[in-house]
Amino acid sequence: MAILCPSTAIYHLLFSSLLLFFSCYVSIIPVYGAEEGKDGFHSTPVSSLLPKNKCSASARGGSQGLPITQKYGPCSGSGHSQPPSPQEIFGRDESRVSFINSKFNQYAPENSKDHTPINNLLDEDGYFLVDVAFGTPPQKFKLILDTGSSITWTQCKACVNCLQDSHRHFDPSASSTYSFGSCIPSTVENNYSMPYNDDSTSVGNYGCDTLILEPSDVFPKFQFGCGINSTGDFGSGVDGVLGLGQGQLSTVSQTASKFKKVFSYCLPEEDSTGSLLFGEKATSQSSSLKFTSLVNGPGTLQESGYYFVNLLDISVGNKRLNIPSSVFASPGTIIDSGTVITRLPQRAYSALKAAFQKAMVKYPLSNGRRKKGDILDTCYNLSGTKDVLLPEIVLHFGEGADVRLNGKRVLWGKHKSHLCLAFAGNSELTIIGNRQQVSLTVLYDIQGGRIGFGGNGCSQ
Ligand SMILES: *[C@@H]1O[C@H](CO)[C@@H](O)[C@H](O)[C@H]1NC(C)=O
Ligand SMILES: *[C@@H]1O[C@H](CO)[C@@H](O)[C@H](O)[C@H]1NC(C)=O
Ligand SMILES: *[C@@H]1O[C@H](CO)[C@@H](O)[C@H](O)[C@H]1NC(C)=O
Repeated sequence: MAILCPSTAIYHLLFSSLLLFFSCYVSIIPVYGAEEGKDGFHSTPVSSLLPKNKCSASARGGSQGLPITQKYGPCSGSGHSQPPSPQEIFGRDESRVSFINSKFNQYAPENSKDHTPINNLLDEDGYFLVDVAFGTPPQKFKLILDTGSSITWTQCKACVNCLQDSHRHFDPSASSTYSFGSCIPSTVENNYSMPYNDDSTSVGNYGCDTLILEPSDVFPKFQFGCGINSTGDFGSGVDGVLGLGQGQLSTVSQTASKFKKVFSYCLPEEDSTGSLLFGEKATSQSSSLKFTSLVNGPGTLQESGYYFVNLLDISVGNKRLNIPSSVFASPGTIIDSGTVITRLPQRAYSALKAAFQKAMVKYPLSNGRRKKGDILDTCYNLSGTKDVLLPEIVLHFGEGADVRLNGKRVLWGKHKSHLCLAFAGNSELTIIGNRQQVSLTVLYDIQGGRIGFGGNGCSQ
């Protein structure tokens, strides 16, 4: 019985949902028609910080690659299901972070028990989904895009406990190219097991079949999980996970002969469509990106396939916080597609919060509406404000890769009276969440040992 990065995969699955969700109503408008930063501040219409409920006409993602959609966004065309509340999102986000933290015990948060995941709400969740197909003739599935998962799996027809609300099953007997078990020479396991938590597990067999990403990107003998026994919820309309982590069985590794371990994504705002590109299509964006090195993380997390980078410091409104880089380097900084809110070690978060409050001193705080489970603790009541002068937050990565955050990447909320700094504290690890990545092009060049950031919106 193979246990291959199991919990990671499922967990990510679940938490990728957050990501999606979040973006559903928290999207980022990169340039709000805002005045260019004067002393590191942007005049930003408060209305532009609120969720949008109409699909933008020009919302098409890049013309290339696999479209990335959000289930609950107005562009998804999937009806009007109620997106989760911020508390639901926060509950799941804390659960994912606790899980990542617990990968190495000494950094496990003491209070992780306070943040019980709200599992029964997962089928109300949304995801960043991409369509892929397996088999001959092709059978199509909607998979969650997950940089934290190192295997790809979909639900199989033989399932005894099937994913709730997914009506698609891969049918091995309907594919002339399917073979049971492993087909990667150095692997022998025929079965996989991915516990999500005490209640939720996915178990299945490995199988090998043709993977079709795009008509021109077809990979015979791709090894993936054929899910047979799923306990717990994995989200409605979701058929499985597209694993984009660093493991041997990840999509990145198995397509390396063609794509040279390069991919990029632009996670869309809620009223838009993003794209997932592989190989040369991704590489062609390089000239517009700023790169920072991929680095090694601590053993257990590195083995789990997470991507680590060097974060050096943070600026707020053009002022460096001068946080010692060791705070971010030890135990390390992960860039994760499945965590929503960026987590900073307490010391860094305190410095960020203090500088942000100072920069926002003329706006009234709004702590009255803070609910149990809220992880955001620095909130403003901007009901009476038309344009807010928001300090830009810059993440300074190694090699001069600065990622500038403004608008919804800085202040998050559903109501003008309660817009919050979209960062939170963590015990030790730094985790760059998807809230801060939406609308950016993020390019993973694993062979080149680097990650690139750039762009302003997914349509470029
Ligand atoms: C693997 O799965 C097959 C088919 O479901 C089953 O017959 C076999 O017992 C499993 N092997 C292990 C080691 O769990
Ligand atoms: C499915 O998995 C659950 C939890 O791991 C287990 O209790 C149950 O026996 C499994 N069912 C089958 C039919 O394998
Ligand atoms: C926000 O401020 C407005 C005045 O601008 C006030 O009427 C309202 O009660 C405040 N709301 C909250 C939640 O503090």
